[in-house]
Amino acid sequence: MSQNDLDQTARDILIGNDQGGYTVPTKGLYPYQWNWDSVFVARGFATFNPDRAWREIELLFEGQWRDGMVPHILFRKDDPSYFPGPSVWGTDGGPIPSSGHSQPPVAATIVRDLLELDGSDAATGRAKGLFPKILHWHRWYMEYRDPDGLGVVAVIHPWESGRDNLPDWDDALRAVEVKDVEPYVRKDTSHVDPEMRPHKEDYDRYLSIVAACRKVGWDPEKVARTCPFFVADPGITFILLRACRDLLALAGKLGLKQHMAEIEGWVSRLESGAARLWNPDLKAHVALDLRTGKLTDGVSSASFLAPYAGLAGPDVLPAVQDHFDRIGSKVRYLMPSYDPDHPKFEHLRYWRGPVWAMVNFMISRGLSEAGDAARAERLRADTAALIQSGGFAEYFSPETAVAAGGGSFSWTAAIWLAWATPSHAEQAA
Ligand code: DGY
Repeated sequence: MSQNDLDQTARDILIGNDQGGYTVPTKGLYPYQWNWDSVFVARGFATFNPDRAWREIELLFEGQWRDGMVPHILFRKDDPSYFPGPSVWGTDGGPIPSSGHSQPPVAATIVRDLLELDGSDAATGRAKGLFPKILHWHRWYMEYRDPDGLGVVAVIHPWESGRDNLPDWDDALRAVEVKDVEPYVRKDTSHVDPEMRPHKEDYDRYLSIVAACRKVGWDPEKVARTCPFFVADPGITFILLRACRDLLALAGKLGLKQHMAEIEGWVSRLESGAARLWNPDLKAHVALDLRTGKLTDGVSSASFLAPYAGLAGPDVLPAVQDHFDRIGSKVRYLMPSYDPDHPKFEHLRYWRGPVWAMVNFMISRGLSEAGDAARAERLRADTAALIQSGGFAEYFSPETAVAAGGGSFSWTAAIWLAWATPSHAEQAA
């Protein structure tokens, strides 16, 4: 397919998955509004329909909880093709039925992008409308996912990280007692090859964590104290650090200077906290189980997000580049979600190996900002090649380029339009 045809197909996917103001990730497998999917989708819409881009994010924030949390799924209407639906979550924190935890906070970064693409009065007004909501969400993250002020951000469920079955969660997840789980039927494996999805043992524990949090009424303070899973995630930590820098820039641009000191405090707390996630043996940032104090032992795609978070000093950037080159010589397509040299790597199983376009977008952006145009461009070119050969799939094998998971996937289409499409190559090279 020519580039023009692919650009058009990508736009058609976003339009086809649009439910009237918000976009589902893909029909069938994920029939609701997902948090970070929607925000990346907005970045894709911004290339041809700016109004629709703002609307996507505004609708996401319609589901914000009273305490500031923005849920990972908004169940705007019932759809029996997905499990676990609203009755399993049992939440009542916000105006729209939702799941009970959040997802990576990319909104401030993308809102800043939208404003840079279109600085009109109308766009500025929409950014001003979103600013206090994003601020409230970041405050919630800092208060309830870093309750001890360590400068690292925990996830209370593997799904909160957005990287559901990452090997980094295995030990902490195995320690979760399976209890209070009603008999259930998974729906995901009827949409997608089970070989590409998490195992049943994982699902039993995903549901046990939901049951434990439901018992404490999803009160964020109680959840932080009692949740059987509480693991500091380099992915969320780096994405939030980056998002706080972008929120600070937005505060300056929008004339909201009264909030800057608070945001600056978050930036410096997260900057110094990142050192706690550094595994000196691996020379990479990894996850830290806050219940046991144990660091994990594998390089994941989030390890490459340090430059995206603005952490690209001589102690970090060369190590990131060394891992990049080592892994780049092992697999044909970067960046696998887990280290191919690790025994737990599986090239087609969801977050245990496959390449995800939107993660590449973020890693590449960080490398480019750190002055590493060559590695940034390799990521763009690899992402483009995967989409050119496999279409707009959910994720891809880093070894064989096989397209995996759901098809006609919104964020893959959005990332193509915003960054991977070859017309962006000259800017990056
Ligand atoms: C799922 O249902 O697999 C989702 O990834 C949860 O967010």
